[in-house]
Amino acid sequence: MLKGVILAGGLGTRLYPLTKVTSKNLLPVGNEPMVFHCVRQLTSADITDILIVTNPQYVGDFVNALGSGKDFGCEFTYRVQEEAKGIAHALALAEGFANNGKIAVLLGDNIFETSIQHAVEDFQAQQRGARVLLKQVPDPERYGVAVLNGNDRIVAIEEKPEHPKSDYAVVGAYFYDASVFDIIRTVEPSARGEYEVTAVNNAYMHRGELEYSFVRGKWVDAGTFDSLSEAHQILLNSLDWH
Ligand code: DAU
Repeated sequence: MLKGVILAGGLGTRLYPLTKVTSKNLLPVGNEPMVFHCVRQLTSADITDILIVTNPQYVGDFVNALGSGKDFGCEFTYRVQEEAKGIAHALALAEGFANNGKIAVLLGDNIFETSIQHAVEDFQAQQRGARVLLKQVPDPERYGVAVLNGNDRIVAIEEKPEHPKSDYAVVGAYFYDASVFDIIRTVEPSARGEYEVTAVNNAYMHRGELEYSFVRGKWVDAGTFDSLSEAHQILLNSLDWH
């Protein structure tokens, strides 16, 4: 059974002072707190065993907002990331929860117009390895960027490159087999001092075990005021699938 992990730690400094009130991932988007959207992405794909990773100051707010999972038809487990040392660092906390199984990982600030169920199905059909989701964007320098070769294989992912080699953003939805935790143990902090999810995905790529699907419909990383407002519009106009 595929389990779900929602990474909702981090400091949300770009959304200060809104994040004085609560976590970025609990701010209103559409008609709900942001993290509800991630939960529904998972439950609509029949992923009902879900770990929430957050930071010490906000964990109480998450438990208040989400509870046991009864209202969402799922079961939540909570873990605290003491320091915001990066997405791979947060994901390492999911090892016991994953219990040698496969996981679907969502970043708590990624908003999708439509369901990502097709990618879940693509991953379920995959024997091993990892799968990422790509979206063509006008501003790839803000994201992890996938470089594809002539055979449409990913040959590199570059994290926030100054001069992007493609316009394919690697969005914040990742699928991993159980070897992800061994890979994370080999990751060194990046120049910005974080354990990067891009390093994890590149390790799978080097093993020849990185696949991808495309995002259908609009996608937004709601980490800035402008993108938060865009996410709000997207969800107000697309509340029919979950
Ligand atoms: O949104 C997609 C992008 O997300 C990817 O294209 C990038 O490759 C990836 O590195 C990431 O970039 P960001 O700079 O936008 O990540 P950010 O630091 O904003 O973190 C995104 C979410 O991950 C955040 O909402 C909560 C979670 N997180 C982040 C950090 C740094 C944690 O749970 N713990 C952390 O320590």
